[in-house]
Amino acid sequence: MKYLSLLNEKKKNKEKITALTAYDYPTARILDESGIDIVLVGDSYAMVKLGHETTLPVTMTEMLSISQAVSRGIRESILIIDMPFLSYQVSEAEAMYNIGLFFKETKAQAVKIEATANNISLIGKIVKMDVPIMAHIGLTPQSVYRLGGYRIQGKDAESAYRIYEQALALEKAGVCSLVLEGMTSELSQRITEELSIPTIGIGAGLYCDGQILVIDDLLGMNPDYLPKHTKQYADLYGIIRDAVGKYMIDVEQSRFPEEKHFTHLEEKEKFYKKIKA
Ligand code: KIV
Repeated sequence: MKYLSLLNEKKKNKEKITALTAYDYPTARILDESGIDIVLVGDSYAMVKLGHETTLPVTMTEMLSISQAVSRGIRESILIIDMPFLSYQVSEAEAMYNIGLFFKETKAQAVKIEATANNISLIGKIVKMDVPIMAHIGLTPQSVYRLGGYRIQGKDAESAYRIYEQALALEKAGVCSLVLEGMTSELSQRITEELSIPTIGIGAGLYCDGQILVIDDLLGMNPDYLPKHTKQYADLYGIIRDAVGKYMIDVEQSRFPEEKHFTHLEEKEKFYKKIKA
């Protein structure tokens, strides 16, 4: 079983941390058996699996249910779960209760919270209750409307400095690691060099301590959408379309099921006699 401390060791030894999202049991099992360091149940679930345009609609109930499924597939990897929109913004008590649910109902070792200018003190208080927090900065999808779309952050000196300061403040608040999403490579490199906690990048260049991708992007599940930061390693959309097409032809031409796929009645004669009687 891997623990969060592995991430710090990897950073110290300059070994890269590997991370991917998962939203169901079979995928979690494959990732775990592949030896991935972190499996993140991302609220990207809202967009990738539920077809919403943003991550905002996904609920605690939905996230808890899929997190339990993912958790059942995990033996070795570090499970981290995203706190969905409105699960931690309403009050400190509600945030703590919702975080507690993930820890009680799954094997989560940390939860991920999107940091804003206003929630660093909340994050600090949660950490003081001995709950490991991974903070998420840069392009924070739950703030998509404030950010004016899914845009790379920290392109000018002023905004880059704000994100840099936020990273320092979050380390001081005690978070266990940072996701750096959608920011310039120079900024993520500087943050990574400056901090002693590990950074995991997505669309943030090469110099983070590790990388994370949305599993559906990596596997090529959506032919209409491939973000610039993603490398597609497979064409599952094509593979599934091909398999479904072959299945349909087999059914239409009575080539499926084959003899080996069905079972014969054991007492055939007796059955026919009964029918005639
Ligand atoms: O929700 C998600 O999948 C994420 C990762 C992209 C970091 O937050």
